[in-house]
Amino acid sequence: MNLLSLEEVTVAHPGHAPMLRGLTLAMDEGERIGLIGPNGAGKTSLFQTIAGVLPARAGQIRLNGASVTPGRFRPDVALVFQQAEDQLFCPTLAEDVAFGPRNLGLPGSEVATRTADALAACGLTGLEDRPVHQLSGGEKRRAAIAGALVMQPALLLLDEPSGGLDLRNRRRLIALLSELPPALLIASHDLELLLELCPRVVLIDAGRIRADGPARDVLGDAALMTGHGQEVPQSLTQHPQR
Ligand SMILES: Nc1ncnc2c1ncn2[C@@H]1O[C@H](COP(=O)(O)OP(=O)(O)OP(=O)(O)O)[C@@H](O)[C@H]1O
Ligand SMILES: [Mg+2]
Repeated sequence: MNLLSLEEVTVAHPGHAPMLRGLTLAMDEGERIGLIGPNGAGKTSLFQTIAGVLPARAGQIRLNGASVTPGRFRPDVALVFQQAEDQLFCPTLAEDVAFGPRNLGLPGSEVATRTADALAACGLTGLEDRPVHQLSGGEKRRAAIAGALVMQPALLLLDEPSGGLDLRNRRRLIALLSELPPALLIASHDLELLLELCPRVVLIDAGRIRADGPARDVLGDAALMTGHGQEVPQSLTQHPQR
């Protein structure tokens, strides 16, 4: 059984025409897939649909065999927003990260352990009492990831995780993500990051999946990439044989 399966899924915002149609995709447990496509292709909207926030207009989405029903909370999938600010809302960092497990009704000791572990994994130990609005952009992004990891999801959806990070924090993020147990679906314009983390890449453009295959084959296909407003990442043009 696949961890995630999409069958003929149509993604659309209420009152608007669909921006993605007939999406069929299967993802295994622990798999890492990079999702690419131009601005406005529908990456964020697709994540919202998989997370059950935006109802699919047609088609079937299954997670661990069960249908994703909008409005029904699924702790096995966690979404890290493109804008970390949109995700953080509690007075302090620790309260924010603890919010999800507390909401699940877990015992206080379990909430505390999970929160401490998620903060440590994201390099945020020591900032527990910091008001979230006082965190730097990079810290906010790691806080948003901690708030997702704390739920111990089977599938983590990361929307532009390296946006706004300096080189050192981008490198730390790659190290952090490479160690994570859940399956990762990562939407990004940072193609080098995807090359490092994701053996498989899916390209969406103009309403459909345009490519789905090994990262080096998809990202290294110059005609395909330029045809969809992308560029072959530099590391593949410099070492095409690797
Ligand atoms: N809440 C909304 N209501 C109506 N249309 C929306 C809404 N959010 C996004 N859209 C539209 O849906 C399309 C897909 O947007 P989406 O944010 O999913 O793209 P994206 O691939 O994530 O782009 P980017 O690379 O810029 O993050 C765009 O045309 C956008 O204008
Ligand atoms: Mg987006």
